[in-house]
Amino acid sequence: MNQAVWAKRIHAQMEYEWQRKEPPKDFPALAPIPTGRYSDPAFHALEREHIWKKTWLLVGRDEDFGGPGHFRTFDRTVSPLLLVRGHDEVLRAFFNTCQHRGAPVVRDACGAAKRLRCQYHSWTYDLDGTLVAVPDRRDFTDLDESKRGLKPVRCEVYDGWVFVNEDPAAPPLREWLGPVAEEWSALGGAGLRAHGSRIERVHANWKICVDAFLETYHVRTIHPASVSKLLDHRGAAMGLFENGHSRMVTPKWEEAIERERNHVMPLPVIPGLDPIFSDTNAAYSVFPNLITPLDTIGFPFIRFWPIDEQTTDAEWTFYGPADETPRVQQAWEKYLQVFDVVMNEDFMNLAPMQRSVASGALESIPLNYQERRIYHLHEEIDRVIGPEKIDPQLRVKPCLEPFWEKNQSI
Ligand code: FES
Ligand SMILES: [Fe+2]
Repeated sequence: MNQAVWAKRIHAQMEYEWQRKEPPKDFPALAPIPTGRYSDPAFHALEREHIWKKTWLLVGRDEDFGGPGHFRTFDRTVSPLLLVRGHDEVLRAFFNTCQHRGAPVVRDACGAAKRLRCQYHSWTYDLDGTLVAVPDRRDFTDLDESKRGLKPVRCEVYDGWVFVNEDPAAPPLREWLGPVAEEWSALGGAGLRAHGSRIERVHANWKICVDAFLETYHVRTIHPASVSKLLDHRGAAMGLFENGHSRMVTPKWEEAIERERNHVMPLPVIPGLDPIFSDTNAAYSVFPNLITPLDTIGFPFIRFWPIDEQTTDAEWTFYGPADETPRVQQAWEKYLQVFDVVMNEDFMNLAPMQRSVASGALESIPLNYQERRIYHLHEEIDRVIGPEKIDPQLRVKPCLEPFWEKNQSI
């Protein structure tokens, strides 16, 4: 990607957004979102079956997984998964399910092993999933070991970002990420490391959580002493992409840019970034559950994992340039604490909102032009599930495709 050309286009878009007096003339009125989508167990079951089992999901960075024999379980979605680095250095994913009677092949969340030995009757698998040993083999008749290897799950890596997908028919990760992959390449994944993470349980549907990170309409009210001092939400420039992904670049106030210029941040910056990344907050949403608000020093990757239709685990990990010096590590710890304040502000309304939608006190949600990324997410949810499977009362009417970035002349 030519960053300078891209930055010029985004600057023009921010200027347009800042100047406009109303939504663009051809922009459609968005039909209110039925709130049953956030509380209906049947809708939640459709999501489990069609979204979480058929979408690329970020599990971490390649270097988090260690060398040959290192493994990690991944239990955030419907199925128990296991990622393990092979003797050939390839990172593979499998169901953490022994092909004898289904016991977990590994019990520890992470570890290292030369081979994977099931804890129940010691069936043993090579790191590439091949079944290599069965105790009391003589007592099995008709056992075909070649058909009893660990069941593989798609695992692909883009610029060090590791994704898994249970759907063998899913498009390749790079193709599915589309423009997001191209724009992320500016970050130089190989030079980044995790600098701390958090997990918080939120008593709200996962979409209530994700929606909260798809607009800056709330910034003045919810973040008066934090984000509002940094960002001018009226200039937020949004891009809607294929496959439900989107981008929002929100300009910083001139005073905030000046303040940051005069304050020497103790954290190293990602090299080679266009100045637009220091003058704005560029946040990506990768369908269905990943939000990445970027800054030059690094960024949190925020993911939302559904527990049930009214409970979500929010998990965020900060990535920045690799630097393990104590001074930088301490600065990251402070930075995470500042971010905790912002996240608490964002989370404050979510559980009460869930109670509202579940109570029937709010039948539908009217979205404005600034909130169009939320509508875009919900359109994609229906596309992935298949609208014909969804209760007609709970569907959203697709209307935003003409506004996908590839279909716009901006
Ligand atoms: S369930 Fe794994 S060896 Fe029996
Ligand atoms: Fe917020």
